Amino acid sequence: MLAEKYQERIEKIFAKYPDKRSAIMPLLYVAQEAYGWISPEAINEVAALCQIDPTQVKSIAGFYTMFRETPKGKYWLQVCNDLPCALRGADQFYQELLDYLGIKDGETTADGVFTVEHVMCLAACDKAPMLQCNFHFHENLTMETMKALIEQWRAEAKAAQGK
Ligand code: FES
Repeated sequence: MLAEKYQERIEKIFAKYPDKRSAIMPLLYVAQEAYGWISPEAINEVAALCQIDPTQVKSIAGFYTMFRETPKGKYWLQVCNDLPCALRGADQFYQELLDYLGIKDGETTADGVFTVEHVMCLAACDKAPMLQCNFHFHENLTMETMKALIEQWRAEAKAAQGK
């Protein structure tokens, strides 16, 4: 599917690199965008495009946290609760966020809108509590600002579904 649907984009990616193997990560981003996660099918397709073994693609997808190895919600919230952030209240913030959404660490809400998990340092230690949502940082959060963001994203998800 990737080769047909994203042919032009894939050709542009390959043109940037001296060999096909070097394009694994940009192609994984394309696959993640297409499927919503790095499915086994996506691994095989990227491997075929790069003309390498799927295990090599899987090892790269598994190493980097920006690749989703399992299906996630529309909004993938990664809350840092590493030590510097914990010292600024990240643990309590994280628990309150989970409670607000009614899920546990790593789970997805029943409506499929939010997946929440804790992660190690995201290099914004002085701005905790903070999180990354679909690769965008939100810093110096309080539960009040967090609830407002959750409701905004929930409304956007509903609008996107035409509800
Ligand atoms: S410890 Fe949380 S961003 Fe660095």
